Amino acid sequence: MSSLGEKTIERFSSGFGEFDRVLGGGFVPGSLVLVGGDPGIGKSTLLLQSATLMATERQVLYVSAEESSQQVKLRWQRLQGAQSDMKLLAETDLDLVLKELEIIRPEVAIIDSIQALNDGALSSTPGSVAQVRECAAALQRFAKEYDITLVLVGHVTKEGMLAGPKVLEHLVDAVLTFEGDRFASHRLLRTMKNRFGATYELGVFEMQGKGLVEVLNPSELFMSGESASGVATIVACEGTRSLVVDLQALVAATSYPSPRRTATGLGTSRLHQILAVLEKHLSLPLSRLDCYLAVAGGLQVEEPASDLGVAAAVVSSYRDITIPPRTVFIGELGLGGQLRPVGQLSQRLQEAARLGFARAVLPKGSGLDQIDNLELFEASNLREALVIALDEDI
Ligand code: TYD
Ligand code: MG
Repeated sequence: MSSLGEKTIERFSSGFGEFDRVLGGGFVPGSLVLVGGDPGIGKSTLLLQSATLMATERQVLYVSAEESSQQVKLRWQRLQGAQSDMKLLAETDLDLVLKELEIIRPEVAIIDSIQALNDGALSSTPGSVAQVRECAAALQRFAKEYDITLVLVGHVTKEGMLAGPKVLEHLVDAVLTFEGDRFASHRLLRTMKNRFGATYELGVFEMQGKGLVEVLNPSELFMSGESASGVATIVACEGTRSLVVDLQALVAATSYPSPRRTATGLGTSRLHQILAVLEKHLSLPLSRLDCYLAVAGGLQVEEPASDLGVAAAVVSSYRDITIPPRTVFIGELGLGGQLRPVGQLSQRLQEAARLGFARAVLPKGSGLDQIDNLELFEASNLREALVIALDEDI
């Protein structure tokens, strides 16, 4: 039975559950998807693997505008891709790409990358705003006419979102970004825009010797498992997914005229605000100390729900005491030191319970009891929360 306004959209799989999740459940036929990311992060690898998997069920054309077909084939061998009927075209000329699309009429076409395509009718160089816009528009017209699902790969430049994604955002149905720390092996695929699904969905992969592998239990990636002073654990929400994530703080005497504050994976202004609340309401002399904060695994934690965890990590480092193991912190911090409730609380608690956590410190008024073996400790303000967590007077 279907009710008004609840039209189910037909979709097909990208071949990866994590990719499908970020798309909102798979590709919508005939849609236009942009995948952006830093050079070298793994976009070509992801799309070549996905194309290979999809090609077992449907006609897929992979247009490589950056690498020769020899290079793509070498990569393919390295990926030990299954036998697949994927069609490969190494071409930079837009007209020739369109011609090939016309001949093959694939169900899915991947253009890697949109910046490397060249429309000979324009005088500007490939990768310029005019070229990117014109090439994408021509491909889009064609894809709509023949009902082709089109995936455009775009590089991000140092200036931020490249010439590509910025000018293309309004043209495409979905914008995904592929990110990660060059020095770590995991990669995060995120939804920035999606006409057919939720934004801020997160898919997690790991780059291995034979290509990308899905990470089905990503919390494990973001938990250091370390028990040391300065480490506190939070439960972050990314779209419909909850992740248990370790934060690490280091508070130390400064040797600078004005103390250092650095945050990796968290906005510096949030860190400043939390430090100010700690200074004011717990009388900690933090303005005379350096403070460094890092989120494990290169995750970016934007939500205020992690405030309490940040504060706990800072206090733990400042006092040089270890937070009892298997404790998670959830709560937004008001400027007056009060704790504010956060969204998706029971979902967060369930993830912590699933991973074997024993204690959760959270704002008052959750209306929840114990969840499995997870005991809930409610606090109305920061001091109360820290006294409960550390079992020491603050
Ligand atoms: P690539 O997909 O070429 O990145 P992009 O298209 O975003 O520029 O990824 C290149 C990096 O991935 C390169 O540094 C090598 C690494 N890699 C692996 O570690 N394992 C693999 O199986 C493959 C194919 C690449
Ligand atoms: Mg590439």
